Amino acid sequence: MFAKETYIRRREELKKKVKSGIILLMGNGEAPLNYPDNTYSFRQDSSFLYFAGLDTPDLYCVIDVDNNNEFLFGNELTIDDIVWMGNLPSLKERSESVGLNRVLPVSELSGTIAAALKSGKVVHYLKPYRHRNQIILGELLNKNTAEILAGCSLELTKAVIDLRLIKEDCELAEMESAGEIGYLMHLTAMKMCQQGIAEREIAGIIEGIAVSKGNRVSFTTILSQNGQTLHNHNHDGILQRGRLMLTDAGAENVNYYASDFTRTVAVGGQYSPKQIDIHNIVLQAINTAIDLIRPGIPYRDIHREAYRIIFDGLKDLGLTKGNTEDALANGAPALFMPHGLGHALGLDTHDMEDLGETLVGYDDEIQRSTLFGYKSLRFGKKLKERHVITVEPGIYFIPQLIEKWKQEKINTDFIHFDKLENYYNFGGIRLEDDVIVTKEGSMLVYPKRLPITIEEIVETIKG
Ligand code: GLY
Repeated sequence: MFAKETYIRRREELKKKVKSGIILLMGNGEAPLNYPDNTYSFRQDSSFLYFAGLDTPDLYCVIDVDNNNEFLFGNELTIDDIVWMGNLPSLKERSESVGLNRVLPVSELSGTIAAALKSGKVVHYLKPYRHRNQIILGELLNKNTAEILAGCSLELTKAVIDLRLIKEDCELAEMESAGEIGYLMHLTAMKMCQQGIAEREIAGIIEGIAVSKGNRVSFTTILSQNGQTLHNHNHDGILQRGRLMLTDAGAENVNYYASDFTRTVAVGGQYSPKQIDIHNIVLQAINTAIDLIRPGIPYRDIHREAYRIIFDGLKDLGLTKGNTEDALANGAPALFMPHGLGHALGLDTHDMEDLGETLVGYDDEIQRSTLFGYKSLRFGKKLKERHVITVEPGIYFIPQLIEKWKQEKINTDFIHFDKLENYYNFGGIRLEDDVIVTKEGSMLVYPKRLPITIEEIVETIKG
């Protein structure tokens, strides 16, 4: 948690952006895993954390913009809570620590909202991504779920995105700490990447690092020799000599900020010439992309430059052909990298995806493409100082996708389909770093870069 002035200032800024009405920020509740008392580890809603800082369940923050009033709705601890959970600080004490000085029981929330509606005020809320919050909002506003989802406030959503995208110094410090945990996770995975070790064992150990040094992993760990499957959460494999292990993982630190790194390494540090060639193209793509990052440049354009490097690099290997500009215009590199170059990072790994990925990553000037590959770029708009963004190019050989394009004669002018069969067992390589946009360019969120060249990786694994 930050100093109370941080939350007070953020709410003041929010009030300037949302001109009138009532803002209702919904905290999360506990979510049962397999029976009510056995819950998933509690995670507060990120926008609630950003504006109200409190990380316990069943809290609601109401900001009355018209009357410049702020309320926290939540229930004070009971003797039962203290018996089961200990002598915790009271809700009143905790709410004062974030500058929310008026605390009311949850039972009074519906009356407050009803009174606001009756007096003709707009109730602004963010799109609820949890069913529990959809139901509560439905009851508060007397609407069905479809109406609740459609009725979220665009004005509030845009205001929250504007504020949360620009990271404050205190947030960057938290992100650095999340980066440090992520660094340790990946270094451990690399060192463990030896023939005969179970993927599950490595995944479990690095997830343990996230839990022991922070809250949890920042998203479900991707760790597999089948790196061609972009979000592969299966860890059933045993590491085999000659294969690559792709690890895409990160940590959420104790103050809920995320890191997200990817490295792909050869089992035992024993690279084949083919693996070295592909690795070096992806390395060139990530380094060029990071070099291009600066305020004012659309991230869409950097994604395109990464595609250029990938396409040209594969052309040098005889796997692609033809005019590069035409290939880029037709989306040919997407066969090898069907995902976007990166996404905003912050309290969420895909920062604010719950508010609408296109609202976060695009605007009137830079519109989202519908072309395969380009359409998966989560963040395309112009970069600004203090944006934090992931940079994660990759090259994958997905046999089913290659066969589909071949049969449907997609981009045949640009792809040597006959040569690709030699790569059907290759897997995929992705490299990912987390970057802050600075005044003049960029810097890594966690200043120590994970081993990334073949030499650095081999030294790490063999050392
Ligand atoms: N690194 C996981 C993701 O971006 O979805």
